Amino acid sequence: MLNDSHRNQFYWDAMEPFVTGKRVIDIGAGSGLLSLMAAKLGAESVLAIEASKDMVALAQLNITRNDQSDVIRIIHDMSSNVKLKEEEKADVIVSETLGALMLGEGTLDYMADARKRLAKPGARVIPAGGAQFAMLIASPSLAQVSSVQSDCCKGFDLSAIGSLQDTGNIFFTKQWGFRLNLLPDLVEMSERIQFLEVDFQKSDRQHIPSTKTFRLTALKDGVIHAVVASWEVWSDEERTHKITTHPEDTRGAPWGFSRDMQWGQGLQLVEDFDLACKSERNTPPAPFEVKKGEELLLTVRFSVPCKQTFQFTLRRASVADAKDVRFTDKGQ
Ligand SMILES: C[S@@+](CC[C@H](N)C(=O)[O-])C[C@H]1O[C@@H](n2cnc3c(N)ncnc32)[C@H](O)[C@@H]1O
Repeated sequence: MLNDSHRNQFYWDAMEPFVTGKRVIDIGAGSGLLSLMAAKLGAESVLAIEASKDMVALAQLNITRNDQSDVIRIIHDMSSNVKLKEEEKADVIVSETLGALMLGEGTLDYMADARKRLAKPGARVIPAGGAQFAMLIASPSLAQVSSVQSDCCKGFDLSAIGSLQDTGNIFFTKQWGFRLNLLPDLVEMSERIQFLEVDFQKSDRQHIPSTKTFRLTALKDGVIHAVVASWEVWSDEERTHKITTHPEDTRGAPWGFSRDMQWGQGLQLVEDFDLACKSERNTPPAPFEVKKGEELLLTVRFSVPCKQTFQFTLRRASVADAKDVRFTDKGQ
């Protein structure tokens, strides 16, 4: 992550117009890099809050070695436990506690808490906002994850093993140890849709609906194998600077490998939900075959109550419409 120079430049550029002469708090300071940047950019004071004892020790060393001990103070605690006097409250909150799923490591809750208790009213938050996206893809290589190809097993029918394939949960590409943009057979089967937007200056988890359904159109004939989840965050209201985890943005970039190993993307394997519902136990995943132009419904369900993670269901609009499945955006 520290080798993701583009990420580091994003935080530098995002802080530069806002921190000079200001009180800054850095939530999840880790190595102390963002605190050091804020100090170098002229912050009056920086409070670096870090939960890990080992990281606090390393950050302290980094701060001393970079001669910023006069400006930066470290607190070893969760930000949610920190209490500040009125005159210590921050003008600027900065945090890089983003996960493979944008909110997966609790960043929205910590930002919201810090806004209310550790900062002055109207304090600037960096990053200012972000969005989570989904796209349908085909990749026969991916389909091999926990489904058995008959030509690989001396012709024996082991297809029942495919019934173990998990099509209900999100996995992370970095856990599987590969970069999505290096799959040789990946085909984009839909537009990328934005299904969640948060304003880190105002939003909290109550603003995230529990369920949302989107209509998508298949871009090609083929089999949809997975839904890819990636995100973008931006520096300010004008979205002057951005970082993303979209696979095409990290492909070929000098910092791309670091970003894919730190974040990568979320992936949920897909099977034909309506066929699978009718099939018997121990049958292999039912491939989700589509025709170009076919209308599909992608439902996103956010985890309750934390709303930090989510899960997808993909269905054919024709089948779902026949069963009177409505578009939903149910709010809390
Ligand atoms: C991705 S690392 C930090 C990276 C660092 N901010 C940087 O940009 O180089 C996230 C760190 O945040 C810490 N952390 C996450 N949430 C926190 C919270 N609410 N309070 C304190 N520390 C937190 C974790 O212990 C971890 O060391």
